[in-house]
Amino acid sequence: MTRKRVGVLISGRGSNMEALVAASRRTEAPFEIALVLSNNPDAAGLGVAADAGITTVAIDHRPYRSDRAAHEMAIAHRLDAAGVEIVCLAGYMRLLTPLLVGRYAGRMLNIHPSLLPSFPGLHTHARAIEAGVKLHGCTVHLVTESMDEGPILAQAAVPVLLSDDEDSLAARVLAQEHLLYADTLALFAQDRPGRADPTASLRNPLPEAARPS
Ligand code: GAR
Repeated sequence: MTRKRVGVLISGRGSNMEALVAASRRTEAPFEIALVLSNNPDAAGLGVAADAGITTVAIDHRPYRSDRAAHEMAIAHRLDAAGVEIVCLAGYMRLLTPLLVGRYAGRMLNIHPSLLPSFPGLHTHARAIEAGVKLHGCTVHLVTESMDEGPILAQAAVPVLLSDDEDSLAARVLAQEHLLYADTLALFAQDRPGRADPTASLRNPLPEAARPS
């Protein structure tokens, strides 16, 4: 099987990236991680990727100042040089311009920590608790020019418990992000987007303590 070459863009911890790397190493994986790139040279995820034997690149956005297009041109150059076919944003915390979005239109995915269209933007877990929603979760979607919009490919839901604070809810969602992103990318790389088993990412929506015995 030819594996689609995936470039992952990160800005920080990189746990979703790590989940994609792990999934890419399953024997039947339809994708491989060709490159991990960050706008933040200090991103912890760069070290994680390098330790896993993945090529890493840091392209610091700061020297480019307000010239976002020039920064994105530099990114695109590295992605193209690595033969990247699919771009996965995984905690990439820069707003993208039409330059990068247009270049990878229909083949750039993002993971967002809420059930879009609810709670786009930042601080999604605190806002979900504040709003009193009983279900929260994560979304994998295609990237378009509007932030946290674009066709939804898959979602996973988790319950919001009365005992939750921002951190406990974030941890429950993050565990689902890792499963959902890997599963969705695997289908997408086989040109089967949207056919994810809707229960696949709900394997363990409840934390141990809240599961009925
Ligand atoms: C993840 O929760 C991801 O969904 C979120 O940032 C976190 C990155 O964690 N992304 C966004 O909020 C994008 N709008 P990670 O670096 O450990 O994958």
